[in-house]
Amino acid sequence: MLKPEDNDLLCRVGPGTPMGELFRRFWLPALMPFELAEPDCPPVRLRLLGEDLVAFRDSMGRIGVVEERCPHRRASLYFGRNEDCGLRCVYHGWKFDVNGDCVDMPNERPETDFKHKVRLRAYSAAEWGGYIWVYMGPAERKPPLPEFEWAMLPPAHRWQRKWHYNANYMQGLEGELDTCHTTFLHRVDDPGTLSPALVAATINWAKDGMPRLDVRDTDYGYYYGSQRDIGDGRFNWRLTQWILPSNSIIPQPKWPISSRAYIPIDDENTFVFGTSFNPEAPLTEADRAYLETGMGAAPELIPGTFEPVVNSKNDYMRDLEAMRRGHSTGIPGINNQDRALVEAMGPIVDRENEHLGTSDVAIIQARRKLLRLARELAEGKEPALPHMASAFGAKPLDVTTADADLDAVVARCRDRLGLVAAA
Ligand code: FES
Ligand SMILES: [Fe+2]
Repeated sequence: MLKPEDNDLLCRVGPGTPMGELFRRFWLPALMPFELAEPDCPPVRLRLLGEDLVAFRDSMGRIGVVEERCPHRRASLYFGRNEDCGLRCVYHGWKFDVNGDCVDMPNERPETDFKHKVRLRAYSAAEWGGYIWVYMGPAERKPPLPEFEWAMLPPAHRWQRKWHYNANYMQGLEGELDTCHTTFLHRVDDPGTLSPALVAATINWAKDGMPRLDVRDTDYGYYYGSQRDIGDGRFNWRLTQWILPSNSIIPQPKWPISSRAYIPIDDENTFVFGTSFNPEAPLTEADRAYLETGMGAAPELIPGTFEPVVNSKNDYMRDLEAMRRGHSTGIPGINNQDRALVEAMGPIVDRENEHLGTSDVAIIQARRKLLRLARELAEGKEPALPHMASAFGAKPLDVTTADADLDAVVARCRDRLGLVAAA
């Protein structure tokens, strides 16, 4: 359980909140490149960490991310004209460049023109690893872009999707750091609906529903090992990576595997950025076709939106007949199952009423670390990770071995974990 004041500290991310400030020390994925497809395309609304913003791509191809409301009389720049290297407010014509500088004030006479005194709040943006990223922290602390394994791969090696999660970011992240639920929530009656990687994984999950968890703190977050006894003196070890502030990389016995970032829109809404990738080879047609079905690591979306087709309004398409046949939930698709359970906890779960067990140790440690880092930052101690670009390259591991101890597994497989800066 968590005291209500700690739950608030963990979940609230608006301007000036301790956790919001911690998030503002990191580059965050914010948009898909197709949302700003070409120079001078229409601007898009972007709500991030509780701030209403507008993003646009100027005539030179540069990306601007600025506060939504015009500093003149607060009209929305979403309705602005994106032309000649700037975004022009359609109310009285003030125009701003990607840096937020006012470059034209056509309703003021030259002698009263004060455009050099007016600025829009503007944030740095960058295209990297298949997403458009935004940095919302102090300019003098802007870090290098994070070198996630998937971000360093050629585009043919990855598949990416963004979708709306109707709950606080931490609920989504805790679902990622909760290997134990896989045995129960994701039990299916028809392996034909799963990818080869998920078929292989579910066979292991079914053999042991009481995995032992062991967590190792690192500079970038932590990794934890879950040990499942699969018989004959062998163990299936899954080492999941948690990379600050809200990235997970889940292991699978086969490629592709998936990484997800839970990026707060505000305290009660999240965008998930899911990347499925194979570092060893380009994704095959079959890999992509499966990912497009929405049955695996990412949901299918209502066309033209970031809203999942399977959602709370249709009870996540729960099939009671499938449940009677033995399907765990009747809800189609792994990600849809996760999302159904997490969203139904409410927008911010009441953690003071929960009862955590030994299977929740990874969740407990993630909360503790986030709370500690947010408190330290509020006291003036900056987090180290944002400036350690290569530390973001940690990799998960799914391995079956006779090793009964996490450190023995790590010693054997250290080169496969990409640990450059483990504490
Ligand atoms: S409100 Fe934007 S120019 Fe007047
Ligand atoms: Fe899950």
